[in-house]
Amino acid sequence: MSRVKYEAQWYPLEPEESVLDGLLRQGVAVPHACMAGVCQSCLMRASSGAVPEKAQAGLKDTLKARHYFLACSCRPEGDLEVASGGADELRVSARIEALEPLSEDVLRVRLRPQGAFEYRTGQYLTLLRADGLARSYSVASLPHEGLLELHVRLLPGGVMSTWLCSKARPGDEVRLQGPAGECFYLPGHPEQPLLLAGTGTGLAPLYGIVRDALAEGHTGPIWLFHGAREPKGLYLVGELQRLASQHSNLHYRPSVLEGRLGEGVHVGPLDALIRAECPKLVGWRAFLCGDPALVSALRKKLFLAGLSLKDIHADSFLPSASAPGGAGATPRAPDTSR
Ligand SMILES: Cc1cc2nc3c(=O)[nH]c(=O)nc-3n(C[C@H](O)[C@H](O)[C@H](O)COP(=O)(O)OP(=O)(O)OC[C@H]3O[C@@H](n4cnc5c(N)ncnc54)[C@H](O)[C@@H]3O)c2cc1C
Ligand code: FES
Repeated sequence: MSRVKYEAQWYPLEPEESVLDGLLRQGVAVPHACMAGVCQSCLMRASSGAVPEKAQAGLKDTLKARHYFLACSCRPEGDLEVASGGADELRVSARIEALEPLSEDVLRVRLRPQGAFEYRTGQYLTLLRADGLARSYSVASLPHEGLLELHVRLLPGGVMSTWLCSKARPGDEVRLQGPAGECFYLPGHPEQPLLLAGTGTGLAPLYGIVRDALAEGHTGPIWLFHGAREPKGLYLVGELQRLASQHSNLHYRPSVLEGRLGEGVHVGPLDALIRAECPKLVGWRAFLCGDPALVSALRKKLFLAGLSLKDIHADSFLPSASAPGGAGATPRAPDTSR
């Protein structure tokens, strides 16, 4: 039986149990969210013991070399000791600077990091509340803009989004970890057509990537498809229409599944609209963000339509997974991770 040493105490793991599951089962509070090896909020560092390769999937080489691992995908074969302060060494304090509704259920959160926080527009970060509650959010701002911008969708009963939308105030301190993810614009082929598609707050990284590509002087066509169930799910419509009117290569297509046809708003499934507007996709670069089912379906369709997999960058907004009996994200004991 493997054991994990965390904060000076040994915890036994059941066969095939992950470090995260084992710690949570035994009442230890550890930041986590997706439990699927994606969000990186459960990052830890091993001070001794062998870290399985799978537990480092998606981490930067510099982190791998320093024995960082994701607790939710770490099933050690022997004993493993977790270094104290491991992930904390990578976290940066930030102050909430502004909270501004962008629609009925989307909040723009502006953050001022208190230290260096390097990122590329479109990557995601882990936002940690003072009690250790952790969630991932994509970055909509450009690094030179100074403040970090996130778009947070209010989920009824959602712990972090409800806190941000109704309790958090400018001046509150949070911590940031990351960034992570490959969903960002890389200059180099300014003439390559770009396809950006997402639903809901999947617009956050796309809004950033579009502005980044334009700022980098992208000359090829840029198609931005933003989908929502109903018209009230769309946001930043005026701003994006204005941006498109200033750049002849930017084509912005807001789209809803249900509702009356507003000016310039398409009604119908997003994939059908993409097919109709962009029938030939060979040689394009695509960015897909938001709802996991949509991202996965679109990725497959774009691949079948001739896009190379290396040209499809996608971030699924996986929901926080549940530990037995709850949202699985709220530490069940005081946060001991700091
Ligand atoms: C890589 C990545 C990037 C992300 N970027 C963004 C972003 O830019 N903006 C944003 O608003 N969110 C984003 N998310 C989702 C975000 O991390 C949280 O899951 C979301 O804000 C809900 O957190 P919560 O604490 O409010 O809800 P929770 O308390 O975690 O969940 C409440 C209930 O809602 C369900 N739920 C949770 N998340 C979702 C979801 N995404 N869709 C549907 N149901 C859900 C849960 O299963 C639960 O039943 C991202 C997720 C990932 C993995
Ligand atoms: S990567 Fe482990 S909880 Fe998300």
